Amino acid sequence: MPTLLSLRSVRLKLDRRLENGNLSSWDFMEDNYGHLISYLRISITDRCNERCHYCLPQENQEWLPREEVLTYEEILRVARVGAELGISKVRVTGGEPLTRRNVLSFIDELCQIPGIDDVGLSTNGTLLNRKPYPDSPETNAAALKRSGVRTVNISLDTLNQQEYEQTTGRDYLQLAIKGIETAIAEGFEKVKLNSVLMRHKNEHELWDLVNFAQEKGALIRFIELMPVSSSEVLSEDNFLSVGEAKKLIEFKFGALTPLPDFKTNGPASYFQIESTGQIIGFIGAMTNFHFCETCNKLRLTCEGKLRPCLGSHLEFDLREVIRNPEMTDEDLKKFFLQVVARKPEQHDFRDNYQPGRRMIAIGG
Ligand code: 5AD
Ligand code: SF4
Repeated sequence: MPTLLSLRSVRLKLDRRLENGNLSSWDFMEDNYGHLISYLRISITDRCNERCHYCLPQENQEWLPREEVLTYEEILRVARVGAELGISKVRVTGGEPLTRRNVLSFIDELCQIPGIDDVGLSTNGTLLNRKPYPDSPETNAAALKRSGVRTVNISLDTLNQQEYEQTTGRDYLQLAIKGIETAIAEGFEKVKLNSVLMRHKNEHELWDLVNFAQEKGALIRFIELMPVSSSEVLSEDNFLSVGEAKKLIEFKFGALTPLPDFKTNGPASYFQIESTGQIIGFIGAMTNFHFCETCNKLRLTCEGKLRPCLGSHLEFDLREVIRNPEMTDEDLKKFFLQVVARKPEQHDFRDNYQPGRRMIAIGG
């Protein structure tokens, strides 16, 4: 995510180009609150080899039929048009993106789109050390690095094998750790670990996770549980706030110093553990009231819905536009701009955790 300063400098550049008359409002996306949209998060599949209980039902998961999922060609077209509107950063997610066939050649093409200069991947890590086909000379991680992927974000909520199995529904902790090690060995610009904070689950493990990240040389971020699916795990009982997590970490490691200028590309705020120099991040979607102030993001779901905000149920059917042979790239641009115009000022997650009201009743 750009800092306010860098947002300002993008704005200045845009203003200059507008004054020179060589830019029209068709060349960039700005929402009604002054956010320039430069980041597209693309889900390429709803499928996953894990079953994290805050994300999916444990069993009997019904996957989307293939024809409802955007093809790679369709996604690449959306990304190209997005890039013409100022999208410069793309993150590929899922489900688990590495479960989709031919994902590596898709990502390779994505990395070559002019204007897109930062491609990242969010993954559970379990397939990073796997080879894409049996006699491949390289691992998935190596192929991604070769294509130009810059950052890999890997979910890791716990280092305890039993807890991992309970949380993800799979006994893949060692695979995930191997994946993290492989990504680090490949030398991606950034390898980030994402830990979802859960009371009674990993509340007592935050220290171990911090130490693990330090040992491996990865940047860890602790994320507040968000009501993004209909799982009953998403209740106030399981919620552990960033504020509490910070206190738990400070209790062990001593003072945390805020690093307001340290930014990656998302809404995380970063702190330095004074005693060790280690930097750790916190993503407080529920308790940080400034969370949405610098949002520069749009999301594309795997079935082709364009969502202006993760935390709002608003979504718009882009698939209908791209599967209509009469619709041109200009129509697609118009669609993007209309969606951006509907981007809310902030998410409405906070209204979702209400005492006594289980998430399952609210739905995702
Ligand atoms: N709340 C917070 N984070 C979540 N993730 C998935 N579901 C939730 C949720 N309900 C995280 C995953 C992964 C990232 C892509 O999103 O753990 O790190
Ligand atoms: Fe969901 Fe990610 Fe867990 Fe898969 S690994 S179930 S996509 S949170």
